[in-house]
Amino acid sequence: MKIFETQHELQSYLQGLRTTGKKIALVPTMGALHEGHLSLIHEAQRVADVTVCSIFVNPTQFNDPKDLEKYPRPIEHDLKLLTSVSCDAVFMPSVAEMYPTNELEWRIDLGNLDTIWEGEKRPGHFQGVTQIVYKLFTLVQPDIACFGQKDFQQVMVIQRLIDVKRLPVHIHICPTIRNDEGLALSSRNLRLSEAGKKKALALYRSLHYIKTHVNQQQPKELKQHAFEILETEGQIDIEYLAICESRSLREVETVDPEKQHVALIVAWVEGVRLIDNMIIHEGATA
Ligand code: PAF
Repeated sequence: MKIFETQHELQSYLQGLRTTGKKIALVPTMGALHEGHLSLIHEAQRVADVTVCSIFVNPTQFNDPKDLEKYPRPIEHDLKLLTSVSCDAVFMPSVAEMYPTNELEWRIDLGNLDTIWEGEKRPGHFQGVTQIVYKLFTLVQPDIACFGQKDFQQVMVIQRLIDVKRLPVHIHICPTIRNDEGLALSSRNLRLSEAGKKKALALYRSLHYIKTHVNQQQPKELKQHAFEILETEGQIDIEYLAICESRSLREVETVDPEKQHVALIVAWVEGVRLIDNMIIHEGATA
């Protein structure tokens, strides 16, 4: 596996590949890699000839400097994992490499995608995400970029970045990896007891209920039943549960059969904030 720390080195490597017509996939990460990330690498390898994984803890997407400082950086372990799945190249720049000092402040019109749901909790977060992803897209010029559906709002934000900047990148949304019972895999699950993990399955069951009844019930009724499923478990604090049109993430009162819809949920179990989602209606357009 090739390891690059500067934009210049990475560019020279990619230029060579591009002239031979190779399709390039980018998997942007902040490191601390786990099974979910590896599934993105596998998907990238399936759809492209060359896979580049970036590891960069991006300071501009953190609201709290303490969170940035505390963010895990197990780089040796990450490199081992990437080598074990035969990733072609890793790009791990320094902050100075990605943010030279004389830089103008970044702001892009994300509609209200950066102020609702996760954006409301973390002001400025999605601006920071688009800032670094735009830099990475400009540098790598990937044909395909792989992102996990688990962070659905992030994927929609990046799709909007691509639309606004008219970038020739195709987003490949990789399905959420779940355990046998349906619990979405997350490093946060490690903080749950066995009983907590069982309780957390109610998130999956409530999303599944919505998906399987979307043709029979209106969103209001679907949500009511989903709440009942969550409440029956007890000790689950629901932060939000919403049925939305996928692109705008606006909550809907009726499902437009032409459009894709998603159910979003954030809930707390044993003091752990769990996030999940499910496409509940495909529609004709994503
Ligand atoms: O999802 C992440 O890990 C980050 O937000 C991303 C997309 C790598 C940008 O820093």
